[in-house]
Amino acid sequence: RICPALCCARCGRAKRMSDQELYRETHRPQFHFSAQKNWINDPNGLVYYEGEYHLFFQHNPESVVWNNMTWGHAVSADLVHWKQLEHALFPDELGTIFSGSAVVDWHNTSGLQEGGEPPLVALYTSAGAHAPDPVPFTQSLAYSNDRGRTWTKFADNPVLGHIEGANRDPKIVWHDATDQWLMALYLDGSRYVLYGSPNLLEWNHLCDLDLPGVSECPDLFELPVDGDFNDTRWVYWGASGGYLLGHFEGTVYVPETEVLHAEQGPNGYAAQTWSDVPSDDGRRLQIAWMRGGKYPAMPFNQQMSFPVELALRSTSEGIRLCRTPVREIERLHAKAHSEKAVRLAPDAPFIPDVGDLLDLRFDLVPGQAEVFIMRIRGVDVRYDVKARLLSFLDASAQIEICEGRIPLQILVDRTSLELFAHDGQVTMSCCFLPEAAEHVLSFHAHGGGAQLESFQAYELNSSWL
Ligand code: FRU
Repeated sequence: RICPALCCARCGRAKRMSDQELYRETHRPQFHFSAQKNWINDPNGLVYYEGEYHLFFQHNPESVVWNNMTWGHAVSADLVHWKQLEHALFPDELGTIFSGSAVVDWHNTSGLQEGGEPPLVALYTSAGAHAPDPVPFTQSLAYSNDRGRTWTKFADNPVLGHIEGANRDPKIVWHDATDQWLMALYLDGSRYVLYGSPNLLEWNHLCDLDLPGVSECPDLFELPVDGDFNDTRWVYWGASGGYLLGHFEGTVYVPETEVLHAEQGPNGYAAQTWSDVPSDDGRRLQIAWMRGGKYPAMPFNQQMSFPVELALRSTSEGIRLCRTPVREIERLHAKAHSEKAVRLAPDAPFIPDVGDLLDLRFDLVPGQAEVFIMRIRGVDVRYDVKARLLSFLDASAQIEICEGRIPLQILVDRTSLELFAHDGQVTMSCCFLPEAAEHVLSFHAHGGGAQLESFQAYELNSSWL
């Protein structure tokens, strides 16, 4: 645990918070990561090593608004319970520490290993415009020889000089077939680029890419289609959840789609996937910043999404990237409310008696209903059956009815709702502040009857316990 001296958001006076008080605040997410105090944004440096998922994050150590970008650090054994550690990387004369990624350098290609274990190597942006004497944005390297506990900046930073604009957010991946490291990097506008390197230190340009309408925070990874490892695609991802599917043989990325969209919600941003998840697990795991949530009078600001597993699946529209919450959510399952089928007569709501932290799973069978509503703490998730349109606050998404139903999973925390329809084909990450409400949860059908099949509402324990 880092120092628990928190600044009281009201009076600005330093106040010591006990472990009991910390993470119990009114608007504190209970199963989503947030920093003990102050501002966070993008997840950075996601890497798995020796039983630990590392989560570094854009952090202002000094206040609840964006500034002084530093890499904060947390670790988890199960993607659910997080422990915040000392901050990892602080600003220097090359700039503040913007987003980037980390890898395990298994074969010591960088030569930075000291001792018997491979180094963890991080590539990040030195945001030169924010240096004491402003310089252009460049890409820098830092390494750790003690399982991420302490970090040393490379003596000859930057490792990649300025290319254009505020070029930033290097994401590194090992390409086995050509024995090289790849760096996906954001340039400017909707322009991205790929670099290659034998050793993480010297980088050569491979190709340029354009993702119209998308900017910042690239990711690049290969996934099997429908689980078939003989039929793979490379996903080139940008911050808003816009992505390309394509082929990559070692030099040039060849897109085979337009920009597709994996995120229909207003608050999922700058998602990144974990590097070095062991092959016997084999999952491609991702976490996002839930950009734009409101946390009035809290000592912290902003939260991460719940981690998801990614898969490419064939759909009627072509191959699509699907996202589903990691199965480790089950570690938090407490009381379960199960019903084989719940009949929703028009204007006669179903009101299960549940707590406010929920993993809801059911098939919505709209039947004759014109409108279906799930009211969660006074805020409506509304499905307009004719328009096939689901809306929540200002966000909406088109969701088709397949074989008469919409399979749904919905995670509800104190300040967020994440919705996954059709096994993650449609996903919406939404922040909200609950209203005063008579019931935590109720379901309503209007204009005709509907049904909820295989209804399961799992109450969740707090992950901070
Ligand atoms: C995305 C972003 C990145 C940048 C970082 C700065 O949210 O703007 O492009 O590296 O945040 O905090």
